[in-house]
Amino acid sequence: MDETLLMIPGPTRVTPRVLKAMSENIVNHRSAIFGKFLTETSEMISDIFRTTNKSYILTGSGTAAMEAAIVNILEPGDKILNVVGGKFGERFSNIVEAFGGESKRIEVEWGKAANPNDIKEALEEDENIKAVTVVHNETSTGVANPIKEIGKILDDYDALYIVDTVSSLGGAEVDVDGYNIDICVTGSQKCLAAPPGLAAITLSDDAWNVVDNTNSRCYYLDLKKYRKTSSMEPPETPYTPAVSLVYALHEALKVVKEEGLENRIKRHELAAEATRNAIKALGLELFPDEEVSSTTVTAVKLPEGVTDAELRGTMRNKYHVELAGGQDHLKGKIFRIGHMGNITHRELITTFSALEMTLRELGFDVEMGVGVAAIADTYLPQKL
Ligand SMILES: Cc1ncc(COP(=O)(O)O)c(C=O)c1O
Repeated sequence: MDETLLMIPGPTRVTPRVLKAMSENIVNHRSAIFGKFLTETSEMISDIFRTTNKSYILTGSGTAAMEAAIVNILEPGDKILNVVGGKFGERFSNIVEAFGGESKRIEVEWGKAANPNDIKEALEEDENIKAVTVVHNETSTGVANPIKEIGKILDDYDALYIVDTVSSLGGAEVDVDGYNIDICVTGSQKCLAAPPGLAAITLSDDAWNVVDNTNSRCYYLDLKKYRKTSSMEPPETPYTPAVSLVYALHEALKVVKEEGLENRIKRHELAAEATRNAIKALGLELFPDEEVSSTTVTAVKLPEGVTDAELRGTMRNKYHVELAGGQDHLKGKIFRIGHMGNITHRELITTFSALEMTLRELGFDVEMGVGVAAIADTYLPQKL
């Protein structure tokens, strides 16, 4: 069994009790026993989304839920405003185009956060925009977008508000009903610390109204079928779900509940703060501005004179700590430290101790222990 410490922005390591839940025997997915699992899982997800609306569990990764969010409200030619400041903002735009929609993009420099006023301007300019997509936590750049402020603006417009919380739900403040979010999506394998393979989506009444009046081009991800089967007795999914993964997600969400959502978010905030402090102590440079940096993943500029392969290769092969690289044009320019899911000071101390040794080995004049000390100094005043 590979014991590499995963410090990537998902998938994250899962607790033994979640792994154990997954080993339960398979039941009929159209039975009362599975219906109860399904209902409880979707209710726990709705609680974490902070919505009174129903949530639906989809078999597929986070991208399946992103696609479901778009295809169910889209007819060819419909205009969707996509806020694009990284790989996942771009993905929403690509999905819109793949299904014949017109993607109007607000380009945000990678590493910066979206400006809510730009969205307001775009909506003022074109009253035919059907929906706006925003990625809460742009995992590719380590930026958290201001979804609360954007929600306030969207309240004055008919356009639906679609938010991707794949890498933030359970690790950052998300309040679907409070932020006027119409469609919110997430994935199982990040802050919720369940295995990869499931996604979740929730829709407001306004969103359902659009879904019901859209001649959409979808089959497997047709949400009307999920709504119908989830209201049956016992509740079901339209097609065979990944039963074992539902067991695992159910258990992982119980863990979230036991920790308490607020405590869990605070733990993520603290891990992010400690990581940033340690990066700065080592003389490295954060990629995004600190005010907009994510609570779940920290992007760091690769120091000059070292390649991504050397840095992450040494971390992985010698110290068994897995970090993530940059994506697209940031490949070879940044590396990313994921601190989502079950991460605490224990994993961060190991990571930074390995990073110090790696940097020293690669010829940097690093004072050993300063990164680790920054982690300790961040955590010590806290009541753990
Ligand atoms: C913000 C964000 N959205 C969407 C996705 C896509 O999720 P998946 O890889 O589970 O399809 C990811 C995955 O990294 C993500 O970080």
